[in-house]
Amino acid sequence: MRALASFFIVFVIIGGISCHYQTEFCNRPFLEDLPPTVTKIGIGSCGSENESQPILNTMASKNLDLFIYLGDNVYCDTDNMDEMRSEYRKLSCKSEFVNLITSTYTIAVWDDHDYGENDAGASYPYKEESKQIFLEFWNEPDTSSRYQHAGIYHALYFGDLTHRVQIILLDCRSFRSLQIEENGNYIPDESYSASMLGDAQWMWLEEELQKPAQIRIVCSSTQFATQHNGWETWDNYPNEMNMMREVIQSTGAEHLIFVSGDVHYAELSKRNYTGLYPIYDFTASGITNIEHNDRPNVYRIGEPVKEPHAGMITIDWGAQTIMFEVINVAGNSVFSYVVPWSELEF
Ligand SMILES: [Fe+2]
Repeated sequence: MRALASFFIVFVIIGGISCHYQTEFCNRPFLEDLPPTVTKIGIGSCGSENESQPILNTMASKNLDLFIYLGDNVYCDTDNMDEMRSEYRKLSCKSEFVNLITSTYTIAVWDDHDYGENDAGASYPYKEESKQIFLEFWNEPDTSSRYQHAGIYHALYFGDLTHRVQIILLDCRSFRSLQIEENGNYIPDESYSASMLGDAQWMWLEEELQKPAQIRIVCSSTQFATQHNGWETWDNYPNEMNMMREVIQSTGAEHLIFVSGDVHYAELSKRNYTGLYPIYDFTASGITNIEHNDRPNVYRIGEPVKEPHAGMITIDWGAQTIMFEVINVAGNSVFSYVVPWSELEF
């Protein structure tokens, strides 16, 4: 009996150290559990930990191979790391969240509100502490290179060489220079010191894009291919945007799409850049938070979706197409658009 009691105490202590969240939360699928060919990927962002998140149950029933969180995964603007951890804990206690993450392999980037401060960049003083909480919450393996460098950028690969999907997880917060504001709107910063990704992340990205992959999904919390709209967009960093164009061009990376969050509605943008095939940017932003006053976007295809939603990307390996869909809480596809791979080639 005493031995049993000792075992129980050790179990509780170890459990407490290895995971700050309840047991179900720590019981998630491993990378090795994924099927050899990834075909269905969910994306989402902007979910308040203080609200019900039924869209997660909907997405858990879609038999996704993978779900990617694109930032504002919790809203914890604070300099107090205990407060930040407690906001994450609220999310971890939601049955719909546990349902998603125990049924679907889930990975994440952060945006400003889970980084720690509205519209924050490199100067946020608690970015190291915030990163530790982020990596622990999202169950980052001990062997991950994310622990070895500043910021949370990362790349993951799924499938064999003929079905390889590359997921590039950008960190659009840790290295971002302050944005220029004019009359309540952000305006483009033309200076060469204006930074979105930072030197080390750019060098890493250039190397990753040279690695073989059939499909490349670049995850950017900040919208990439939308029109300048006074909010946070890559358009506020014209030199960095140009750098992205050059890196895609010089590496010859094809079949590359962007996914993004942040704006609290869903939309698909398609923008042409000199020397590139069309760049699609699929935004899914509204696990709970919805903005009804969408900004103008001449690059938008169709209408924005302004109800709680998640995005779904289906790769058809036979037909060689990518389908973008926006899924609402009822499980209906309220937006869909198919892009042939051949459109995403030089
Ligand atoms: Fe948000």
